[in-house]
Amino acid sequence: MDKRKVKNIAVFASGRGSNFAAIVKAVKAGEIKANLALLVCDNSKAGVLKLAQQAGVKSVLAKSEEEISRHLEQNKIDLIILAGFMRILSPDFVRRHKNRILNIHPSLLPAFKGAHAIRDAFDYGVKVTGVTVHFVDEKMDHGPVILQEPAKVSASDTLQSLEAKIHKIEHKLYPQAIRSYLEGKLKIRGRRVK
Ligand code: GRF
Repeated sequence: MDKRKVKNIAVFASGRGSNFAAIVKAVKAGEIKANLALLVCDNSKAGVLKLAQQAGVKSVLAKSEEEISRHLEQNKIDLIILAGFMRILSPDFVRRHKNRILNIHPSLLPAFKGAHAIRDAFDYGVKVTGVTVHFVDEKMDHGPVILQEPAKVSASDTLQSLEAKIHKIEHKLYPQAIRSYLEGKLKIRGRRVK
């Protein structure tokens, strides 16, 4: 990547888009110094599409990796940010964008991988869960960890209140991790990110 130019970032999302909204806010505030060039969505009913429209961010509905790759090339995307993208990217796609895909997961990985992490942690009865931002590798919810932050589960918590706690952390942690990435501060050494 060219160190001087402003990087083009793409967010991939399939749902309501609260993390997308947090990223938009951080870009607008100048906390993330990048051009939010594209939203890639695979669900025509997703709330995130409306958010993109309101924020003036270009969005595309794409179902296949071929289509996605074409949009990434056309928009000269440097960094891919997965924010609730419900499709597993193929090993080939991940290899082609090695160390240029970030993901956020609502648990302290490697605990509670998968699509229902907050509920799974709540049902398990853990006293602490949290949020992980990590690089994406060929295995699901597995790549090197960039940032983690814990969230306490108190006796009075319901699933809904825990969800709210987790999302609040996400909206702070993801922009922070993206910013560190763009500032070239992250060095990957095996599983360790410094
Ligand atoms: C977040 O909890 C994120 O950690 C997970 O999917 C959820 C997306 O939520 N990967 P939203 O669409 O950003 O509100």
